[in-house]
Amino acid sequence: MVAAVYINKVIYSKFSNWFGVNDNATTPLAPEVILCVSEALTNAWANPSSSSEIGQSAKELINQARKKVATMLNAKPSEITFVSGGTEANNMVLHTALKYFNSGSGKLGQGASLKPHILTTNVEHDAILLPLRHYETEKLADVDFVPVSMSSGQVLVEEIEKLIKPNTCLVTVMLANNETGVIMPVAEISRKIRELNEIRQKEGLCRILIHTDAAQAIGKISVDVEELGVDYLTIVGHKFYGPRIGALFVKEMAEDSTPLYPMFFGGGQERGLRPGTENTPMIHGLGCAAELVSQNLQKYQEAMKKTRDLLEKSLIVEFGENIIVNCDTALRLPNTSSVSFRETTMTGGEILSHCPHLMASTGAACHGTGKPSVILMASGVSCEDARSAVRLSVGRDTAPAEIEQIVQMLKLALKRD
Ligand SMILES: Cc1ncc(COP(=O)(O)O)c(C=O)c1O
Repeated sequence: MVAAVYINKVIYSKFSNWFGVNDNATTPLAPEVILCVSEALTNAWANPSSSSEIGQSAKELINQARKKVATMLNAKPSEITFVSGGTEANNMVLHTALKYFNSGSGKLGQGASLKPHILTTNVEHDAILLPLRHYETEKLADVDFVPVSMSSGQVLVEEIEKLIKPNTCLVTVMLANNETGVIMPVAEISRKIRELNEIRQKEGLCRILIHTDAAQAIGKISVDVEELGVDYLTIVGHKFYGPRIGALFVKEMAEDSTPLYPMFFGGGQERGLRPGTENTPMIHGLGCAAELVSQNLQKYQEAMKKTRDLLEKSLIVEFGENIIVNCDTALRLPNTSSVSFRETTMTGGEILSHCPHLMASTGAACHGTGKPSVILMASGVSCEDARSAVRLSVGRDTAPAEIEQIVQMLKLALKRD
């Protein structure tokens, strides 16, 4: 107990003067979520598969969380499977698509020699891009990475349609980009694929499954699976003030329409789709974070947009023509701002190295390579601008007073050039 308090004190005192603007990499836990998780750690430690009263109360917490996650997405509880996070959810969908194609239901009308074909964009997170590259290398699938528009950073429905092949079994397009914040036209893509699926059914071709990675969109914009018309949707708790755990939405799961094939085998939890003793406290926390989003989305959205707009305005006032906001002509998340500095020889990484108390990144937080972001360049940002780009993403609680301090920090950093 003493040790825990000491560690907390060290951590909190060390980071108390950091500026909370890196919302896209991860978010802090909402205080309500911390309470839920702690409560469950103390009281719901029993195995949810146990028939004991305490085991069953843990099970009940999981059921409630499933309902809350489903409500947030306008889905049914039976359509939610808990997994470890976004990487797992995405991999599970890709694994499912391959198996679906290679099984009877996917192969309808196809010659046995055809490989499954998957369509995605060239700006997806690595948790989509890298498994797909792996499947290509292993010659298990053909993949087309559809280029997004160089003027808006958005993928165009017609560009996707052009690349659909008889053996296409999955289209996966992120709902919002983690670096630019650009929102993709997923509902429109789904409508088009559904129309094509009707024709394909008559031709005996495989039905195309539709997936969206909604990691960055949940908690920032409305995410409604009915409106989006998707078969699969990735949910990542630590992007919306929840714990580091995720879930996968699978529409009315059925073997021949929207199947889900497990990657792990074990104790049969999550209907055998994701076995392993459930992480009750984190699942409970995810449910709590989802409930907060259901209750407060508009408030969160308005607060973030106001702060992000103030940030961009203040940066432009300070840096004038020496700053540009990337992809600002497209529909963007209300919290994200990718900015590039001109008239500097410094890279985004070097600029941030002079802002030790600013939580921001040059691109996806998991990269950190120092090279200009390929995602930004694919979205139409010049190599020069991509070099000096910094991603600033405000959170629910980023205060206007912090904005001025962030601008001043960046100003001082750029003077080091
Ligand atoms: C769009 C997107 N998808 C997937 C992920 C992966 O999530 P996790 O690292 O929690 O598995 C992230 C995390 O940065 C993301 O931004």
